[in-house]
Amino acid sequence: MKLFMKIKALVGITGVFLATSGFAQTTLKDAFKNDFLIGVALNEAEFAGLNTNAVAIVKAQFNSISPENALKWESIHPKPDQYDFSAGDRYVEFGQKNNMFIVGHTLVWHNQTPKWVFQDDKGIPLVRDRLLSRMSNHIFTVVGRYKGKIGGWDVVNEALDDDGKLRQSEWEKIIGPDYIIKAYQFAHEADPRAELYYNDFSLENEAKRNGAIALVRKIQAAGIPIAGVGLQGHYKMDWPTNNQVDETITALSKLGVKVMITELDLDMLPPATKSQAAEVSMNFALRAELNPYTNGLPAAVQQQLTQRYADLFAVFVKHRDVVSRVTFWGVTDGDSWLNYWPVKVRMAYPLLFNRDGRPKPAFNAILQLAGAAVP
Ligand code: XIL
Repeated sequence: MKLFMKIKALVGITGVFLATSGFAQTTLKDAFKNDFLIGVALNEAEFAGLNTNAVAIVKAQFNSISPENALKWESIHPKPDQYDFSAGDRYVEFGQKNNMFIVGHTLVWHNQTPKWVFQDDKGIPLVRDRLLSRMSNHIFTVVGRYKGKIGGWDVVNEALDDDGKLRQSEWEKIIGPDYIIKAYQFAHEADPRAELYYNDFSLENEAKRNGAIALVRKIQAAGIPIAGVGLQGHYKMDWPTNNQVDETITALSKLGVKVMITELDLDMLPPATKSQAAEVSMNFALRAELNPYTNGLPAAVQQQLTQRYADLFAVFVKHRDVVSRVTFWGVTDGDSWLNYWPVKVRMAYPLLFNRDGRPKPAFNAILQLAGAAVP
């Protein structure tokens, strides 16, 4: 027993040494294998195998993938009578080859959806039934193609406003509020075994969270098995608080659904807006003070990022019984959308791997939190 304790202490010290010296003794997916999946969003250069540095990191560290853009309506269904599966097929093949849990993102959304979707060939807005049949055709075609391969779908993305009411999107305006139920019905019929998720940002704020809870209840009342709610996790340094994340996971889990962190990144750059929304259409002019770290991240800021990641993972691990996946929105800092949103073009540092693919201190902090240093 004593000897065992000594060995354990020694292994612990070695683990800390290895972790702090930059040579991780384990990987993210192994460290959290009893807790949740560790996912990452891939761009085309990654799932096509062109970005070999990123691919090596993805294969080593992650066991789930999400498509950053490849399955969005504008990519996969660019014209009324034309689907383009080239990118989607490669994305799914990449996940299958590497035995990963493959996520589908996303079927019904107000962004990255071409204007023609909501209009007839003369540019006149569609009536309800025609838009419903267009939606149904899209969902059956896309979900059907990847049936049995894509394990879970973000069926509806970002349907709520900050106050928790339904966003007045073209979907809502033309079809009415039941467009949501319809989308889940079609997706469930198209692949009854695929998990169906609702995905949104800012659910950590109470009003919007209550809107999501009401929405999930409606879907459940319609008899559709919704498997989970995705918190996008586009977080800032000062928002949301750990407490808000904790409360949100607890509140959602009471619905009997899993919770996923689906698009995690930490925005360290000075805010261009007070808004906490991850609304992709926002676009602010570049000013020098909004882009302060062009020569690298100062040590003190690096430390804040590390601490913030460690604190967040402590919350996720605490809820390991309901958190089924934590997905990062990009592989390395250089891949992150935060380099070009909501201000073009800045140097962002939101992820666990540097631009050159080396793990950052936050990576080691997360591993240690999983208890990986001490077997
Ligand atoms: C982002 C992608 O990362 C960008 O490449 C693209 O230009 C815009 O969309 N919420 C979502 C994601 O659900 O699909 C968005 O992804 C980020 C915000």
